[in-house]
Amino acid sequence: MKTNWWKKATIYQIYPRSFQDTNDDGIGDLQGIIQHLDYLEFLGIDAVWLSPIYQSPNEDNGYDISDYQVINPEYGTMNDVETLIKKAKKRNIRIIMDLVVNHTSSEHPWFQSAVHDPKSEFHNFYIWRKSYDEKPPNDLQSNFGGSAWTYVPDLGEYYFHLHAKEQPDLNWENPSMRQEIYRMMNFWIEKGVGGFRLDVIDLIGKEPDQSITKNGPKLHELLQEMNRCTFGNYDLVTVGETWGATPEIAQLYSNESRDELSMVFQFEHINLDKQVGKRKWDLKELDPKELHQVFSKWQTELADKGWNSLFWNNHDLPRIISRWGNDQEYRVLSGKMLAIYLYFLQGTPYLYQGEEIGMINYPVESIDEVNDIESRRMYDERINSGYTKEEIIASINVKGRDNGRHPMHWDDSKQAGFTTSIPWLPVGDSSEINVATALEDQTSLFYTYKKLIQFRKKFPVITEGSFESISTGDTAILAYIRRYKEETLLVVVNFSNESDHFLLDSTQQIKEILIHNYEKEISQTLLPYESYAVLLK
Ligand code: GLC
Ligand code: CA
Repeated sequence: MKTNWWKKATIYQIYPRSFQDTNDDGIGDLQGIIQHLDYLEFLGIDAVWLSPIYQSPNEDNGYDISDYQVINPEYGTMNDVETLIKKAKKRNIRIIMDLVVNHTSSEHPWFQSAVHDPKSEFHNFYIWRKSYDEKPPNDLQSNFGGSAWTYVPDLGEYYFHLHAKEQPDLNWENPSMRQEIYRMMNFWIEKGVGGFRLDVIDLIGKEPDQSITKNGPKLHELLQEMNRCTFGNYDLVTVGETWGATPEIAQLYSNESRDELSMVFQFEHINLDKQVGKRKWDLKELDPKELHQVFSKWQTELADKGWNSLFWNNHDLPRIISRWGNDQEYRVLSGKMLAIYLYFLQGTPYLYQGEEIGMINYPVESIDEVNDIESRRMYDERINSGYTKEEIIASINVKGRDNGRHPMHWDDSKQAGFTTSIPWLPVGDSSEINVATALEDQTSLFYTYKKLIQFRKKFPVITEGSFESISTGDTAILAYIRRYKEETLLVVVNFSNESDHFLLDSTQQIKEILIHNYEKEISQTLLPYESYAVLLK
């Protein structure tokens, strides 16, 4: 396998709206990111994935783009982006753009032209169907609830959208549309970006008439074409968001010989907290063993055949410590446990802003406090189908996307150092959880992440080694071994708030302790969330 830069890299995701406000409008901005480049360099990350900063009416906080080559004035100017790319580069940090090309905003000039003039060349940039019985062409549903078809009376046609009706899907069957997208991507490549994160990319091969949305028949052909026409000739990283990927499918995207993407985000571990076949709101009890099975499967099945991404968090997910860890008594210990478990696996880790200081969920009491379009649409839908407010708010507090979108905690001041005015979304309690406090404390979660990021560069066993899951019987302890040449690495984590035993006698063969989240000897008893990684003799 080739050793591309992104195989040893850690990528930090920034949700610009919530990172740092510098002009007191309560909204994070590009200057705010520039201001914290030293912090990011100190953490040791190699690249920043920027959630969308393009012009947008913000129905879905920037994932509804009305101009791909204009910067949303709330965030700054093209000049700011150029400065960011340049200043980041000086610190060996690359900037990865979020590419939302499954759909545009309904305010994009292409869609405006398509909807006002059926003869325009842009009409066919989108997906239109006639209907003869006043019903949508079929019963495909949007990911945000309701029909995926919206009727335009003046045209007598429906258009297709897998998200909000303000996010019409682009027609990837149309070669002229594709060329426009490739032109736009090359515009960004010429600006010197480090790569792309491709939003819901598994949807672009859809066949709506066949009710196929994910993983459509032409998907991989389309990605090969995109690769050839854009990033294929550059040393860029590309990561596709693919909720529907199995390891077999992920191989298609990420096998080097196929010239598609560097890797994909798969969500099998994330989906373990919901009932099978139900929506994300329908929760299920968590089972660490199941989680371990999923990671083991992906480690084994992509080894030599593709490349994994590794993540616990992003802007669509609740905070991991609140979900799989313990956000009360064991916030820091469980945060370290989650980090240690993930960062010795093969793949490229993605760290989401605030994760490095152990930020947690932000519970609300009523729907008025919720910003996210997905939660709000689900709320209306479920109220109409008889759920109680309490039930719905409870599920939003566990899974709602706002949980991960509250502004970054820089210090313990009133607005957490994020803004001096009123933030677009409340900052929550930053008295304990904030960057300033974390930086002062050598035992904080921040320094665990910093160390893990360094290890990934230092020990080839992490990027190259084989993977073997270790059986731990009937306990919540998860363990695995990685091997490469002379190096053998053992990782053991206690995924619970109770002590338990790990009976592998390799505890006697420790050559070097790389990391351990308790200040005590390693023994066969693991305290709550106790975790370590060691090199074996
Ligand atoms: C992706 C984004 C999410 C957005 C959706 C529609 O899942 O991560 O934030 O709402 O696509 O663009
Ligand atoms: Ca601002």
